[in-house]
Amino acid sequence: MSHSDSSAPVFQHSAYAGIQDKVVVVTGGGSGIGLALAKGFARNGAHLLLIDINAQAMADAKGELQQEFPESRVECFEASVTDEDAIDAAFAHAKACFGRIDVLLNNAGVSINKPSLDITPAEWRRAVEINFSSVFICAQAAARHMIEQQAGVIINTSSMWGVSHSAERTAYCSTKAAVVSMTKCLAVEWARHGIRVNAIGPGYTRTPLVDELQRAGRLDVDALSKRTPLHRLGEPGEMAELALFLASGSATFITGQIYVSDGGWTANGF
Ligand SMILES: NC(=O)c1ccc[n+]([C@@H]2O[C@H](COP(=O)([O-])OP(=O)(O)OC[C@H]3O[C@@H](n4cnc5c(N)ncnc54)[C@H](O)[C@@H]3O)[C@@H](O)[C@H]2O)c1
Repeated sequence: MSHSDSSAPVFQHSAYAGIQDKVVVVTGGGSGIGLALAKGFARNGAHLLLIDINAQAMADAKGELQQEFPESRVECFEASVTDEDAIDAAFAHAKACFGRIDVLLNNAGVSINKPSLDITPAEWRRAVEINFSSVFICAQAAARHMIEQQAGVIINTSSMWGVSHSAERTAYCSTKAAVVSMTKCLAVEWARHGIRVNAIGPGYTRTPLVDELQRAGRLDVDALSKRTPLHRLGEPGEMAELALFLASGSATFITGQIYVSDGGWTANGF
């Protein structure tokens, strides 16, 4: 198998207990891992509210979801995850449409890959606001509803870079590491309300974000595949399988953890 062999076997969808008819909010649901999360939960019978800043991407995602999973109800709400008022309105909309909120997939995020001395104050604030503060804003908005229900699941999308470190990724690594810390704090605080909070840590995953970095010459996909022990990038659907497991009836004793799915990247010291 070559390092970037696209015919390499990837994954099979599984059926997860306890997802049928759940109401799931997905931030950044219009594209990439967020869209794959939406598809994975819809495949298992959930109903969805997508939140995204890109209305067209979300409309396209809704079309795909309705075609593939006609049994699932899909609602869209255009908002930036950094806007507290818009996020409160999005969760109120979910409650009005579905009557409850069972799962938050706190997934929206942006990449920033730049020498630390060149990062402008605006770029730094954007990374902190979108990758870190928004995760808290959405978790808080979801938990207000989940506490009324005394049940809920929150899954934050960190990154393998939330548990490892690299040159020219200071803003990305440190915001994603902060998400891990936030995940653990919220898990401890909200356990008494029946809310489990975990994080997933994708490794390099084939999404529009990665494609864009590759096109801009900021990522060498062949080199990344070569350094990954499993010799390929992850598929968005593989991240969805992990989130499904964590939201399912098989993970009811798991909270406050980060699960990294990276083909062995972070284990590899070489
Ligand atoms: N792709 C990877 O290799 C990889 C690896 C590790 C972690 N991640 C993380 O996974 C998450 C999804 O990444 P992706 O690769 O699917 O990215 P993507 O760019 O393909 O999709 C991100 C989605 O989030 C939306 N979004 C961006 N800013 C937003 C905002 N302020 N408010 C609402 N929506 C917003 C975008 O419109 C887009 O639809 C991010 O948190 C990213 O950091 C990705």
